[in-house]
Amino acid sequence: MYQTWEELEDSIKNCQKCKLCRARQNIVFGVGNKNATVMFIGEGPGADEDRLGEPFVGRAGKLMNMAFKMVGINREDVYIANIVKCRPPQNRNPEDDESNACLNYLRNQVMLVKPKIIVLLGSVALKNILGKEYGITASRGKWIEKKGIMYMPTWHPAALLRDETKKVDFINDLQAVIEKHNEILVPAGCAHGYLVLEPSIVSYKCSEKFYGEYDGGIKWNDPDINVQWPLDKIDGIKNLILADKDKNLPSFKEFIEQYGAF
Ligand code: URA
Repeated sequence: MYQTWEELEDSIKNCQKCKLCRARQNIVFGVGNKNATVMFIGEGPGADEDRLGEPFVGRAGKLMNMAFKMVGINREDVYIANIVKCRPPQNRNPEDDESNACLNYLRNQVMLVKPKIIVLLGSVALKNILGKEYGITASRGKWIEKKGIMYMPTWHPAALLRDETKKVDFINDLQAVIEKHNEILVPAGCAHGYLVLEPSIVSYKCSEKFYGEYDGGIKWNDPDINVQWPLDKIDGIKNLILADKDKNLPSFKEFIEQYGAF
């Protein structure tokens, strides 16, 4: 296992551990927040990903991005990777020798990100990570805990392109991920919501970390970080909009549109 991202990425660049290396244009390593709480794992690159070297940038990826927007997940806040880093021909499922050759790279990514939640996108991700005995139809939407990580199996976004009815499940599963994320990250006594101070909005999901820096002014370099702010320490709150526990926060953009910009 490599201890740094640089070493890991370097080790993958010239990988020839399986036959997928022969036709690849680019290795598709992974993308997103390297300290993310939530990690998404797909199957393997398709044509667009192979061309651009980034996961989930084709049709399925665009659909996933739309679903993220709907529920208020920022793609940049999560980490996204695949079981195999090189495109299988004609987008077939990776074969066992290919996924086995590649899985240590993913394990290393998980070790570096240290996610609390892993979303398994489709059957290939589910079986490779949790075991062949799991089936996606029976497992999707149900939390599985292993070694301190909460796994949420759900449909692969490409399955939503083939069967529209799966979209509802996918959105529901993402909502469950957000709820779990908030449960994990928001300790009792902390606000989970938007703080609105005069004259402007100060923060979106504030934090203790953030609190340390709070000076009554507007701090705002990282409005989307997902952290908390101890309520009892805050003076001068003009308006505090707490999310309904069972409801998701609107995205920050929607919030600004609704309540005014700063
Ligand atoms: N499908 C996947 O499983 N991964 C990608 O990166 C793109 C499509």
